[in-house]
Amino acid sequence: TLFMDGGSCIILVGPMGAGKSTVGRALAELLQYEFVDSDEEIERRTGANVSWIFEIEGENGFRDREQQVIAELVERERVVIATGGGAVMRDANREVLRSKGLVVYLYASLREQVRRTGNSQKRPLLAGKNRKSVLSELMRIRDPLYREVSDLVMPTDNRGAKKLAQHLRAQIPSESPEVSSPK
Ligand code: S3P
Repeated sequence: TLFMDGGSCIILVGPMGAGKSTVGRALAELLQYEFVDSDEEIERRTGANVSWIFEIEGENGFRDREQQVIAELVERERVVIATGGGAVMRDANREVLRSKGLVVYLYASLREQVRRTGNSQKRPLLAGKNRKSVLSELMRIRDPLYREVSDLVMPTDNRGAKKLAQHLRAQIPSESPEVSSPK
């Protein structure tokens, strides 16, 4: 396997607005890996969007679905997985993330998080709230958890997805075209 402990699975964690999906997609393209976003996978399976799931089943119901999806996705090979910002809240998820893949924390400052979530209608935790105070409180709790599970911390402020993906690829152990084995 390519990475020390899991298979060839790269997992992106970090707050809403860190760019997990855009950077993940760009990285997957560079590596010729599959890309999957856990929120999108949940939506695909349920046929409902995240906000609707929060409304009907509550955050805990959403977290159950998220846990199930993450546990399944990390078993894939040659995959880049973008997780939701709250995935690290559950012990079980942190355990799975740490043991099954190479975990990258995409860090964004509070200012950037606020800016990048500006026109987002699809984030139930921010809807109708003061985004800055919610995001700040979430980071207070979650930043240590992102750090706890990650192998790499990558700051994302003032850098585009393509650059970040290239930078990430260069830091991924033994992932170069010469050594990566075919599927
Ligand atoms: C959440 C982040 C969202 C989504 C849900 C809850 C969170 O994902 O999973 O709205 O708790 O931070 P993104 O980080 O992709 O926005």
